[in-house]
Amino acid sequence: MNAPIIARTVAELRQTVATWRRAGARVALVPTMGALHPGHVSLVDLARASAGRVVTSIFVNPTQFGPNEDYSKYPRTFDADVERLGKAGCELVFAPSPDVMYGHGFATTISLEGPAKAGLEDAFRPSHFAGVATVVAKLLIQCGPDVAIFGEKDFQQLAVIRRMVRDLDIPVEIIGAPTLREADGLAMSSRNVYLSAAERAAAPVLHGVLRDCAARIAQGETFEGVLAEGRVQIERAGFALDYLELRDAATLAAPRLDTTAALRLLAAARMGATRLIDNVHAQKAQES
Ligand code: PAF
Repeated sequence: MNAPIIARTVAELRQTVATWRRAGARVALVPTMGALHPGHVSLVDLARASAGRVVTSIFVNPTQFGPNEDYSKYPRTFDADVERLGKAGCELVFAPSPDVMYGHGFATTISLEGPAKAGLEDAFRPSHFAGVATVVAKLLIQCGPDVAIFGEKDFQQLAVIRRMVRDLDIPVEIIGAPTLREADGLAMSSRNVYLSAAERAAAPVLHGVLRDCAARIAQGETFEGVLAEGRVQIERAGFALDYLELRDAATLAAPRLDTTAALRLLAAARMGATRLIDNVHAQKAQES
């Protein structure tokens, strides 16, 4: 394993990427906030399969956290992250400081509609996607990758980024990567470390209910009946539910009852002080 180069400034990042490009390499970017787990490594694996050279950014982006959220206590494990990335074959880690990303007088934010206003995460984290979109746009402009990889676990985020890249003609292919799960189904997340032992034991119910709801929708049960029962089951497991919703997978709009499109079941719920999100594919039974 070669230790990755660490770039702290945009100039350092661009210099290495330019060297790679002169040698004819394709470049992939994996944007992260660090606290890496095997789910992130799977994004790097996908990046390596899509391009010869991989950049991973590690930046805990302050602008996507609300005033009462966990920005200051978000896990920061930089040295372990860099080691993990080196083993995974990532050659360049871009780790800017907040001052590098948001210099004196910074005054520009991307304004979003469409999937960013779907009434899911945005209903509970009103300024979140403006922060995400602005930092992702900056990372894409700073790095100029051919492809960028984002996890499907943040399904609404992925839809927002796809929309932004199309709308702003940013020349990059966005690839969504499947969610990696623990053996009991819990979606891997940097925030899982916040769960107490009892909370961790109860947490997989969220995924279990999503899977159960998807199976019942596939069998032709009514959307509202399935969702109503799912909501009760999630709350019975000790979660405070923010939402459990069924949406068109491409637009995140509420689906028509006779839809044949791919659907997505999405949930967010709080277990103690930890907020978990998850989602699964769903499809209505096809009428013959
Ligand atoms: O998904 C994340 O980790 C973050 O939202 C991202 C895309 C790195 C932007 O800060």
